[in-house]
Amino acid sequence: MNLAARLQDQAAGETLISAAVQRGIGGRVRAEPLGPRALRGFDRPVPVWLVVGVDSSAGDAARTPFVGRARERTQIAGILDVCLESRRGGVVLVRGEAGIGKTRLVEEIGTLAGALGMARHRALVLDFGVGKGRDPIPALVRGLLDVAPDGSKSEWEGRAAAAVDGGIIDQDQVPFLHDLLDLPQPTDQRARFDAMDSAARRRGIKATVATLAARLAEGTPRLLIVEDLHWADASALEHLAELAAAAGEAPMVLVMTTCVEGDPVDHGWRGATRGSPVTTIDLAPLRTAISSAASIWRSNMVSDASSRATGSCSGWVLSSGATSTRPCGKWTPASTFPAPCTTSTAK
Ligand SMILES: Nc1ncnc2c1ncn2[C@@H]1O[C@H](COP(=O)(O)OP(=O)(O)OP(=O)(O)O)[C@@H](O)[C@H]1O
Ligand SMILES: [Mg+2]
Repeated sequence: MNLAARLQDQAAGETLISAAVQRGIGGRVRAEPLGPRALRGFDRPVPVWLVVGVDSSAGDAARTPFVGRARERTQIAGILDVCLESRRGGVVLVRGEAGIGKTRLVEEIGTLAGALGMARHRALVLDFGVGKGRDPIPALVRGLLDVAPDGSKSEWEGRAAAAVDGGIIDQDQVPFLHDLLDLPQPTDQRARFDAMDSAARRRGIKATVATLAARLAEGTPRLLIVEDLHWADASALEHLAELAAAAGEAPMVLVMTTCVEGDPVDHGWRGATRGSPVTTIDLAPLRTAISSAASIWRSNMVSDASSRATGSCSGWVLSSGATSTRPCGKWTPASTFPAPCTTSTAK
């Protein structure tokens, strides 16, 4: 019996999880209960949850102490210091294999930046289903505007208007912000926006996002974190290059994580950042001695989550093994693991 497969049958482009999986990974995702559903092959209706997003504030920092990575921390702390002193930032690209500790390191960078008084914003390039959530920019912009992901459209419109009043974006950038946030166009600007071709709109949206971030950073320096770049689509990468360019001229550091395989930061992308400094940090595995505590915890977490999920190979688990078969930076359906699916190789 494969509960994950039954849930997939039910999902119409959404991500559904069982109640047990929701308990197991509930701290990492936001999910809404859909109530019990009749599933083929199950005697009783099964409680089902709909994943509506990843909880960007949730990390597992509270659950295990951060270990190692002294060199990387020092390097990044230096970049943050220079940014605050010179009021010019840049890009930090954290690269590494699946489960090597990219997210954990950027959480640590977030803590460092917070201690230095920087405002922090984080977005993930998700891979929950084809075509969904591959563009982290709207989430980043909502964070910059301080709008909750489940905030109402009128709240977003209010924040956009306040951004104009506060000189954070220009009046003629409002249509671009509205387009990005999927808000109705203001009546007085609709005709101008409708008359633009798609290239002009794209340029406008990119410039608006960069302006928004840079001007906010002039008030309070910013750390922008975008995770799992290897899943980003072309439009998101263009946006990020523009943000990177803005970071070179404002007190703002853009931190991105990517797998080595599929790293989209190539010569062309760097060229589009208009000379903004890009520091690449390639993560090696943690040394055995210091990684053992983390790896024991990780194996416990995965086997616990999968056994709580169904007692077999159903549902979704977060695997952390550098040598597991899952692709980098991806929530993997447990049903794709060879049975029995408690497999999680600690690095
Ligand atoms: N320096 C560290 N100290 C303590 N725990 C760590 C450290 N690095 C990684 N971990 C733990 O190892 C696990 C995997 O790390 P993490 O999620 O950061 O990897 P990742 O490279 O982001 O993986 P993915 O490719 O899936 O995005 C997590 O449970 C994390 O807390
Ligand atoms: Mg990660």
